[in-house]
Amino acid sequence: MTDISKHIGQIRADYQKATLNETEVGDDPLLFFQKWFGEAEAAGITEVNAMTLATANVWGLPSARIVLLKGLDKEGFSFFTNYESDKGRQIAEEESVALLFFWKELERQVRIEGVARKVPAADSDAYFHSRPKGSQISAAVSPQSQVIEGREELEHRAQEMETQYADSEVPRPAHWGGYKVIPEKIEFWQGRKNRLHDRIVFFREPETDNGEDALPGYGAWEKFRIAP
Ligand SMILES: Cc1cc2nc3c(=O)[nH]c(=O)nc-3n(C[C@H](O)[C@H](O)[C@H](O)COP(=O)(O)O)c2cc1C
Repeated sequence: MTDISKHIGQIRADYQKATLNETEVGDDPLLFFQKWFGEAEAAGITEVNAMTLATANVWGLPSARIVLLKGLDKEGFSFFTNYESDKGRQIAEEESVALLFFWKELERQVRIEGVARKVPAADSDAYFHSRPKGSQISAAVSPQSQVIEGREELEHRAQEMETQYADSEVPRPAHWGGYKVIPEKIEFWQGRKNRLHDRIVFFREPETDNGEDALPGYGAWEKFRIAP
């Protein structure tokens, strides 16, 4: 086995692919996110919707894992999971979360901070039933993040459910559903030569009402360039 400590410090990539300026990001970060997402898809990035979700418990102890972005609308970013998992329990304690996309092939990073709210049950039902039946069953039988005796018990329960629901729809378990992250801060990062990167950040104040274009409970987006 190679000892990575001997060369890890020498791993280095220079970023030269693109630039980012205040004009091209526009005034709506969700729209600009869609543009970058489209470009990431067009670049052939696989699992382009994979994002790191960071949560924290009441003591501020952080925890991060990958989840898949499954929806984006004018309010925010949706993903689906087990409400009783570690992340689900943490969100119940502390709704502030962060999302992170790293599209390495485009030398881009997007950082999102906001609050996670459960999506309406009807939306969770619709997405649950759009998944392959095998995934529905796995979601139903898996007590995500809990200690289990072994893999066999999961496979056994999945087998039982396959028989039980061979000719009928698997009901969505109450412990499984979606969250929408309503952003309060979104940063677009474009890698540049000599580490002099471009960073443009949007921020809006929660709990104010600032005109027709703003989401209820939020002020209008403000935009800043920040140092790399
Ligand atoms: C590429 C990838 C996609 C994933 N997508 C999801 C997802 O959409 N929802 C989910 O609950 N877990 C997903 N996972 C698993 C999570 O990373 C994590 O293991 C699981 O949600 C339990 O996290 P927790 O114990 O912190 O709650 C994914 C993992 C990977 C590597």
